[in-house]
Amino acid sequence: MVRSAVLGASPDDASHRRETHEAGQAPTFPSARLAPISSDMNSPAAQTDRHPLAVQHPELDDASIRLLVETFYGRAREDALIGPIFNRAVADWDEHIDRISDFWSSMFLKTGRYNGAPMRPHLALSLQGAHFDRWLQLFEATARELFAPDLADLFIIRARRIADSFEMGIASTRGELMRPRHSV
Ligand code: HEM
Repeated sequence: MVRSAVLGASPDDASHRRETHEAGQAPTFPSARLAPISSDMNSPAAQTDRHPLAVQHPELDDASIRLLVETFYGRAREDALIGPIFNRAVADWDEHIDRISDFWSSMFLKTGRYNGAPMRPHLALSLQGAHFDRWLQLFEATARELFAPDLADLFIIRARRIADSFEMGIASTRGELMRPRHSV
């Protein structure tokens, strides 16, 4: 109702527009009816300083990203196959978790906190396909456990694409060509 008062719209605006248009007058710009509504302006969501291009999802914020990253790496470092790789390479787990949280936060919330070169450390790790398969398996199970299906999908789809780009980048340093395996 606040919307109608603010925008001057009424439930039968559409038919009004059709009539005036047919009568040769310029139609009202239709998207005006879809503009953000004044009654929502005081809600907590409207008052956050989210980047306009940030993914909008009620469960997505820095706290939920951190929970995903912490839970995932808690499992990855215990894993028989990929745990030893992490435990050999990661000197400071707090710093790693901060960096990976920044990575996802920059990706989805556009916070700009990560500006590294994500491929680089992976080139030196002698990673095989089975390592990426396990990484994705653990990551996907964790995302599904913690997030609503649509938010989990967002992370999973992106992680698969990145895993493919890492795998293909690693293959090219070995003089090999590789097709994406996870994101097609
Ligand atoms: C078998 C799979 C993987 C293994 C074993 C692995 C392992 C590692 C290791 C050891 C580091 C360096 C950590 C440090 O120096 O503190 C690293 C960094 C990183 N990894 Fe992975 N990773 C894997 C897959 C992935 C995937 C699929 C993603 C993204 C979806 C990813 C994202 C990153 C990022 C963003 C960094 C930080 C790079 C930087 O230093 O700026 N990793 N990873």
